[in-house]
Amino acid sequence: MELIVEGVSHRYGDVTALDGIDIAARAGEILALIGPSGCGKSTLLGIMGGILAPSAGRVMLAGEARAGTLNPLTYVFQDFALLPWRTVEGNVALALEHHRLDPGERAARIDDVLARTGLGDFRAAFPKQLSGGMRQRVGIARALAVKPSILLMDEPLSALDAQTRELLMEDFLALWLRERITAVWVTHNLAEALRVADRVAVLSRRPGRLRDVVAIGVPQSERGHDAAQRDLAALHDRLWALIKAEAQVAEREVADHGAAG
Ligand SMILES: Nc1ncnc2c1ncn2[C@@H]1O[C@H](COP(=O)(O)OP(=O)(O)OP(=O)(O)O)[C@@H](O)[C@H]1O
Ligand SMILES: [Mg+2]
Repeated sequence: MELIVEGVSHRYGDVTALDGIDIAARAGEILALIGPSGCGKSTLLGIMGGILAPSAGRVMLAGEARAGTLNPLTYVFQDFALLPWRTVEGNVALALEHHRLDPGERAARIDDVLARTGLGDFRAAFPKQLSGGMRQRVGIARALAVKPSILLMDEPLSALDAQTRELLMEDFLALWLRERITAVWVTHNLAEALRVADRVAVLSRRPGRLRDVVAIGVPQSERGHDAAQRDLAALHDRLWALIKAEAQVAEREVADHGAAG
C-alpha cells in the first residue's frame, strides 16, 4: 500500500511547522525522514497517520491492503508507549482489543508476532522487567499484530544504547525483508537512515520543507558488503552536506535568538 502526502502544510498557532510537503511512501519501501530538531518530522508523521489534521493539503492511501489487515496504518513510538501494569502479551493484545476476532485468531496473532519479534519467552514479563531493546520489541510486536500495510516509526531506536540499536535495526530489517510492509522511519541518525532506507527524504529547518529525496540504490541485504561501501560513502557525503547546511542555520538562529533575548 502506498501513502501519498499532497501539499501538506501545518501551523501551530503562529508557528509554521511544515510548508508544502509533497511526498509518497511507495508500496513496500522504507522511506526515512531526516532533518534538524524541531523541523516538523513528528508533525508530518502524525499527519500521515491521521492523528493530526493538516492546516492545508491532504493524505491519501492507495493500493490494496494486506490480507488480514485490521488497521492499514500503525505507529511505533520512540518511548515505546507500553502500559506498565500489563504484561508483554497484554500490551500486544491491546492492539487487538477494539477488533472483533474469535479467541483462536486473537491468540494465533499474538503468538505469531511474539515469535517474530523474539519475545516468545517473555510473554508473561512486565515492561519494568525488560531492557529498553526488549520493550521496543513489544512496541513493534504490538504494531504488527494488526497486520498493518503501513508502519509509521518515530525515532524507534533513539531511546536505546548503540549496541541495542544495532541489533534491533538488523532484526527489524530481517523482518521487513520478509514482509515488505511500507514504512516511514523518522530518525536523527544518518547512519541509521543509510542502513534501513530505500529512500531518504531530507527536511529543511523549520518550517519544514522537502529539501531532497535521495534513493539508496544498494539493496539492504548488500549494505554490509565491501562492494557497496563506495556508493554508500558517496550517498553519506551528499546527505550530510544537505543536513549540515540546515543544521548550521538552525543553530545560528537559536544562538541569535539567545543573544537577542
Ligand atoms: N502541539 C504543539 N503546539 C505548538 N507547537 C508545537 C506542537 N508540537 C510541535 N510544535 C512545534 O512545531 C515544530 C515541529 O515540531 P515536531 O515535533 O514535529 O518536530 P520534530 O522534527 O519531530 O522535532 P524533534 O527532532 O525534536 O523530534 C517545533 O518547533 C515544535 O516546537
Ligand atoms: Mg520528533
